[in-house]
Amino acid sequence: MDSLEKQTKRDQWGSRTGFILAAMGSAVGLGNIWKFPYVAGANGGGAFLFLYILFVLLIGIPVMLAEFSIGRNTQRDVVHAFQKLAPKSPWVLAGILGVVATFFILSFYSVVAGWTLNYIAQYTVGGLGQAANTNYGEYFSQFISHPLMPIFWQTMFMILTVLFVYKGIKNGIEKLNKVLMPTLAVLIVGLAIYSLNLDGAMDGLKFLFQPDWSVLKDPSVYLAALGQAFFSLSLGLGALITYGSYLSKEEKLPSASLTIASLDTVFAIIAGLLIFPAVFTFNIEPGAGPGLVFITLPDIFGNFAYGQFVAITFFFLLAAAALSSAVSLLEVTVAFVIRQLKWTREKTAIFVGVLVTLVGIPSSLSLGIWSEIKLLGNLNIMDSIDYVASNIFLPLGGLLISMFVGWGWNKRDVLSEVNFQTNSLGTLWLISLRYITPIAIFCVLLYSLGII
Ligand code: TRP
Repeated sequence: MDSLEKQTKRDQWGSRTGFILAAMGSAVGLGNIWKFPYVAGANGGGAFLFLYILFVLLIGIPVMLAEFSIGRNTQRDVVHAFQKLAPKSPWVLAGILGVVATFFILSFYSVVAGWTLNYIAQYTVGGLGQAANTNYGEYFSQFISHPLMPIFWQTMFMILTVLFVYKGIKNGIEKLNKVLMPTLAVLIVGLAIYSLNLDGAMDGLKFLFQPDWSVLKDPSVYLAALGQAFFSLSLGLGALITYGSYLSKEEKLPSASLTIASLDTVFAIIAGLLIFPAVFTFNIEPGAGPGLVFITLPDIFGNFAYGQFVAITFFFLLAAAALSSAVSLLEVTVAFVIRQLKWTREKTAIFVGVLVTLVGIPSSLSLGIWSEIKLLGNLNIMDSIDYVASNIFLPLGGLLISMFVGWGWNKRDVLSEVNFQTNSLGTLWLISLRYITPIAIFCVLLYSLGII
């Protein structure tokens, strides 16, 4: 232990369940409930789901295990973890990429999360859901293009996020997830049962589970499935390195990774079970895009008995899932700054939180008064940041992490970190990290850069 660590004892998870719930909280987010249904809808449903599960098994779980191993072994934030394992080498780039990308992802993630808070408030006290013929499409586009309202809600969301990071690993993040994750599970299952009782349930199920293999001819479906798997499992940017760094040595990492990845996938599928039956019952195009949960669902809720309560429950679910993910995105930068600048956690959480909020404002405005400003080709500010962070930095980070653990790190140390020394699973894991994952990510990267 060096002297710095003795002075500022690092926080740790209080229990194994606490860690698993926190990592699940990071994974289950807007990616599962907002993005997964519309990405699956736009990419053909069943065949997409098949590819998605394949990527989670072959690539997602191995990379998750790689992240936890780096974190637990080093007990450091993502930048210092690479510096410790491979001093003065370019691998540290993976860490820097992680800090930069999680910072920028949180900047627009909090904008969308803020919308969910607005919907909760409007359904509770405002007019939403009361007039039978509200035009939700119009409501949504007026709201997101308003210069102030979305920024107000984005700020509220960031205040909540900062609060839990401020309180630390055991007393903040772990406590939050211990309450939120079981609540989320109950709510999402309840809403899915409700939805499965609608008339269009069979069509919705067919769409989600009956594969139309012809979509697999299109390379963009592979890109979407792998990108979605990385985003949904919180991989590639060191969020799980950071969470792993608060673990003690006794933890069994392979079984934890399997549990977290499986439950994240189950959450995404249940979100599909909740959304597609409703979509087919009311004859809505399943590939409706990002507006699916903010326009289509409110439309549908409007036709339900007690629709207003169902809507409040749904948006609460969405906000809670977003909060537990946002906390993990913020923690990546906060953990790095605490060690780098030797600041207190409290000061760092507030400082980084304010910065993220400010950087997020242009993203919010880019859906309204700044919509004419284009950064990358035809993309507005928010979509440009999303594109660079999620489609370039994230796969690049995943590539570097898997190559580092596969090739850069001493093989014996790697295998003993996960207790795989005498086990053929260890060989399989290394095959994935050395060959399958890098090749798959490389193809995806070339494709998203427009090279192939
Ligand atoms: N997994 C979260 C979601 O599905 C988003 C997220 C949280 C994330 N932490 C991350 C994505 C780290 C990439 C990297 O909404």
